[in-house]
Amino acid sequence: MSALVLPSVELLSPYETGKPLDELARELGVTDAVKLASNENPLGPSPRALEAARRALESVHLYPDGAAYRLRERLAAVHGVTMEEIVQGNGSNELLDLIVHAFATPGSHIVFADPAFVVYKLAALAYGVPFTAVPLRDLRHDLEAMAAAVTPKTRLLFIANPNNPTGTHVGRAAVERLLRELPPEVIVVMDEAYIQYADAADFPDSMRLRGLRERLLVLRTFSKIYGLAGFRVGYAVGPVQLIDYLNRVRAPFNVSALAQAAAVAALDDAEHVEKSRALNLRERDRLTRELTRLGLSVAPSQANFVLVDVGRPARPVYDALLRKGVIVRPFGNLPTSLRVTIGTERENQRFLDSLSAVLA
Ligand SMILES: Cc1ncc(COP(=O)(O)O)c(C=O)c1O
Repeated sequence: MSALVLPSVELLSPYETGKPLDELARELGVTDAVKLASNENPLGPSPRALEAARRALESVHLYPDGAAYRLRERLAAVHGVTMEEIVQGNGSNELLDLIVHAFATPGSHIVFADPAFVVYKLAALAYGVPFTAVPLRDLRHDLEAMAAAVTPKTRLLFIANPNNPTGTHVGRAAVERLLRELPPEVIVVMDEAYIQYADAADFPDSMRLRGLRERLLVLRTFSKIYGLAGFRVGYAVGPVQLIDYLNRVRAPFNVSALAQAAAVAALDDAEHVEKSRALNLRERDRLTRELTRLGLSVAPSQANFVLVDVGRPARPVYDALLRKGVIVRPFGNLPTSLRVTIGTERENQRFLDSLSAVLA
C-alpha cells in the first residue's frame, strides 16, 4: 500500500503552544496564574478594536470581505504601497505556510536559522521541502552562513527580525548586504512580527529596503503590539507577482469579518500602540537588569520577551514555576533557557519573585 502521508509529515510533531491558563487550572488547580508564554500584549486589545469588532458582530451572518479591501486600503496608506502589494493572512502564521505552499516543492530547498520561529521548519516538513537550518552565532542569525547555505535549488530564505525565541536582531548593514547579494531567484521572507518593540539604532525596517531586491516579502502581524492574537490577522507586503500567487493558494475567506474590523480600528489607535511599546521598553530593561542581578544571562532583546539562561536544566524550573502559577516557555533545543514574555509590572514581579524562590 502506498504511504498515507509524505515521509516528512511522519517526522512532524504538531506545534506546541504556550500552556493555556485554563489547562493549568485543570491540571494543577492553579486559578490565579499569569501567562508569560506566548508573547501576547499584556495590556490587551485596543478599546477601539473591541468596539469595532462588537459592531461587526451585527453582520456576522454575512461572509467577510474575501479581499479584505478596507484593511488592505488602510495598510497601503500606512506603508506607502499599493493594495496589490498586500495580502492578508489568518495570522502571519498562515502566510508562512502559504509561502512555502506557493513557492517551494520537494525539489527545491529552504534556508532558515536554528533556533528561529519553528513554523518555518514545520511548513517545510508539511510540504516535504528539504531545508538547511543554519545555527545562530552568538544567539543571532548568522547571515553569512545562511547565504553560504543557499544552493541553486534554494527558493526561500526566512529571517525573523527580531528573532523568536532569542529576541536578538540583525542590523541594517548585514540585512542590506544579504538582500543585494543573494541570487535573484531566492525569495527572502523578513518576518517582522515584533518590529514595533525594537529600539536599536541599527534596526532595519524591511519595508524601506524593498528597493534593494525584487523578491522580498515582509510579514507583519496584529497579534503582538496590536493585542489581537485571538483574532488571527497578519499580512505580507511584496511585489505584485508574489502577492498574486499567494492570493491563488489562500482560502477565499481567510480572515474573519470581526478580525478585519478590529485590525482596521487597531491601526487607528496610535495611543494604545505607544502605551504598549513604552511599557515593554521599560519592563524589558527592568527584567533584564533583575535577571542579570540574579546571576543569569539574558540575550539582548529587541522584542516583547527575553530569553534567559537559568544555568541548569530549564524544564524542572519551568515545572516549578507552573506550580507557582507562572507560565513561561521552555525550548527543547535550548535546554538551559526559558523564554519569558514581558508582562505588566505586577506580572513581571511575580515571575521574578517566583524564579528567585525556585532557583534558591
Ligand atoms: C517570529 C514570528 N513570526 C510569526 C508569528 C506568528 O504570529 P501570528 O500568526 O499570530 O501572526 C510569531 C508568533 O509568535 C512569531 O514569533
